[in-house]
Amino acid sequence: MNTAPHIIIGHDETACAAIAADVIDSVLAARPDALITLPTGKTPLALYRLLASGRRDAWKHVRFIALDEYCGLGDDDPRLFGAWIARECLDPMGITAERRTMFRSNAPDPVTECARVATWLDAHGPLDLAVLGLGTNGHLAFNEPGADPAGSVHVATLAAESITANAGYWGGADRVPRTGMTLGLGDIMRARKIILLVSGAHKAAILDRALHGPVDPAVPASILQTHGDVAVIADAAAAGGQR
Ligand code: PGA
Repeated sequence: MNTAPHIIIGHDETACAAIAADVIDSVLAARPDALITLPTGKTPLALYRLLASGRRDAWKHVRFIALDEYCGLGDDDPRLFGAWIARECLDPMGITAERRTMFRSNAPDPVTECARVATWLDAHGPLDLAVLGLGTNGHLAFNEPGADPAGSVHVATLAAESITANAGYWGGADRVPRTGMTLGLGDIMRARKIILLVSGAHKAAILDRALHGPVDPAVPASILQTHGDVAVIADAAAAGGQR
């Protein structure tokens, strides 16, 4: 039997950020060198601003592994997820280069690059904490609908809905790479603790399906119903009719 993930509803993104920061604080209090992954996207930005405003000291031993990255972008490309998360969180939190494991977007062979990251995670994992966003199609990172529920680090083809959503970041669908590298659902499910951050009314229907619908690879986030320690932190708009 599945236990529904614990849902915590914050009034708005500021309230959700405060709740998420408290959960992260408790993880780091127990394990200062926790291995964590964090999402890019618009949802976590308030959280990163809050963290950067006063928690740097608690993060001085934190180890970070990237959640996902586009394939094929040059080192200076502004669309790199690695650059985004560095700017918003890793740099402000003082996570030094040796405590970061990143995907190299322009690696000559993305499959080999994924194998390199998988090998690192095998040696240093599992994740102590995975903070995740939710795609409007139910994706977690670039684990798109149909992704292997037990999968490890892999190359993924972006779903049409993800391309549309990502077009909003970069000013058009033609600016969105078609493939990415991502931690797999198996890697995410092995995390000791998971936080799923969800905001906005446009996420209400998919959040409801993920939490209360069948556990189905068609909705990758539904697999979270089978993990014993997930905190879903949603704003009132995304939580919609949730109890
Ligand atoms: P968003 O992205 O926070 O920009 O909505 C979430 C996601 O696609 O994982």
